[in-house]
Amino acid sequence: MSPVGIRRRTVLGAALALGACKGSARAQLSVDRGPPPPLKSLVPFPIGCAVMAPELAQADYAELLVRNVSQLTPEWEMKMEYILKDDGTFRFDAPDAIAAFARSHGLRLFGHNLIWYANPVAAFQRIDGSGKAFADAYRNYILAVAGRYRGQAVGWDVVNEPVNEDGEGLRDCLWSKNLGLDYIRRALDHAQEADPDAILFINDYFLESIPRKRATFLRMAEDLLRAGAPLKGLGTQTHLSADLPAGAIRTAMKDLASLGLQIHLSEMDVSLNRARRMFASSADLERAQSRLYAEAADAFLALPERQRFAFTVWGLRDKDSWLRGPKENPGPQLDAPLLFDDAGKAKDVFWTLADAFRSGPRAG
Ligand code: G3I
Repeated sequence: MSPVGIRRRTVLGAALALGACKGSARAQLSVDRGPPPPLKSLVPFPIGCAVMAPELAQADYAELLVRNVSQLTPEWEMKMEYILKDDGTFRFDAPDAIAAFARSHGLRLFGHNLIWYANPVAAFQRIDGSGKAFADAYRNYILAVAGRYRGQAVGWDVVNEPVNEDGEGLRDCLWSKNLGLDYIRRALDHAQEADPDAILFINDYFLESIPRKRATFLRMAEDLLRAGAPLKGLGTQTHLSADLPAGAIRTAMKDLASLGLQIHLSEMDVSLNRARRMFASSADLERAQSRLYAEAADAFLALPERQRFAFTVWGLRDKDSWLRGPKENPGPQLDAPLLFDDAGKAKDVFWTLADAFRSGPRAG
């Protein structure tokens, strides 16, 4: 379902390279740099963030969010697993609250997600194998949800994570079982029918660390475009482990941009815990994390302006991260994958990203 088993990499080269710059980097970042600039003020494209409705009621969180970001992605409450109740009725309280917050604060809203292999919810399980009834319910769900946020959501992750994790072909799921692989094309068509102005994406993960998965993802996108599907954007989630080799993000971004579609760097975080044993010290681990955020900024800035949809992080404060486990019951080993610490203070990695954004597009 999600990047739980991020693959390991031998990164001796990256660690050594980091060692060479650590002195200057650390010294520069340890100097008091005054109040952190709003991230969204540093770049011409939207800065997005994953949010949940209850967080928006926390004044300090809401202030930090509105100061830094210009687009919201519902992290959970706009998914089928939240909206479609077991009895087949819908609940929109939380997604409506997120949409209202976005509207009242002049922020874009990005819909996530309509169809996901990981959401084979009971209401659809009950009509599994029902042929036309299933197909009609599938269309009706997409029309109801994408239609509800028509004119509010600037775009949608129409299908999330269709490619097998190892990159070998597309996933088998409740949707492909009932509709064949045409479920992807149908979802795009139904979403366009619901909201003709929405920018329609397909979104996946590990596109940086598993080239074979990226190739399968791109072949799928090319096939859809060739068939005339209303696919307008590609989402690369960018859930990374700090041991990802240097250059992998840049290579992936160039490949993904090759179709000319809009690119959403859609869910960035960089896990320290998943790479901890690969580095000699926490300081080296944090420098590797900073390097990856900077590379992501450089790679995104190097895209043609028309292809830069948004740069989205999967949470603001470390304690907001899914990598901490369920929010109700965070895990013991506290990962620190995001830009702000638990108290909402900008970390060194925030300043590294801000500096990369300020430095503007770089060749190569
Ligand atoms: O809030 C409820 C709580 O009331 C209830 O008691 C509890 C047990 O059912 O569930 C709680 O909701 C959980 C929700 O997160 C809020 O914490 C859901 O169970 C849990 O499934 C949900 O997890 C989300 C996950 O997607 C599945 O939807 C994560 O927050 C979210 O970060 C994660 O995001 C995914 C992207 O959508 C796709 N890419 C990978 C990414 C990380 O897995």
